[in-house]
Amino acid sequence: MTRAIVRLTVNEHAVERSDVPDDERLLDTLRWRLALKGTKEGCRTGDCGACTVLVDGQSALSCLTLTREVEGRSITTIEAGPTDARVARVRAAFEAAGALQCGYCTPGFVMSLAGALTEQGASASRAELLEALGGNLCRCTGYGAILRAVDRLRVEGP
Ligand code: FES
Ligand code: FES
Repeated sequence: MTRAIVRLTVNEHAVERSDVPDDERLLDTLRWRLALKGTKEGCRTGDCGACTVLVDGQSALSCLTLTREVEGRSITTIEAGPTDARVARVRAAFEAAGALQCGYCTPGFVMSLAGALTEQGASASRAELLEALGGNLCRCTGYGAILRAVDRLRVEGP
């Protein structure tokens, strides 16, 4: 079966694929076709936030997003790291606060906060940042350190 080509921008690189089924989730395209394994698979039902990425700067659950739905859009993943100021800033706060245990949930937390910084502005309030984390779960329950990372974001500013 011939499939239409899907075009995306992923971490500022143009991606063109002709092998993406209509029902493929963005999570699977990122992890298995593009080898971007930083985006984690948790529940696949929209309940844990581990798969969070940015779509045109807004946080989105890649397990609930069809790749073909985001044709032509700009996707940012945790691998954007140093090339994306928002992601780099949140990553630095997590590192400084030691805000991870096993680290499985961490990319999702980082991307949700990066999305909040885009939506609310670089000086987002603590309440706005915490609200952005409402859909992120940490199975290791390392929430204390994650809250310290949020506070570092606030103290250190943009
Ligand atoms: S894997 Fe997407 S929300 Fe859990
Ligand atoms: S650090 Fe292990 S799930 Fe969050």
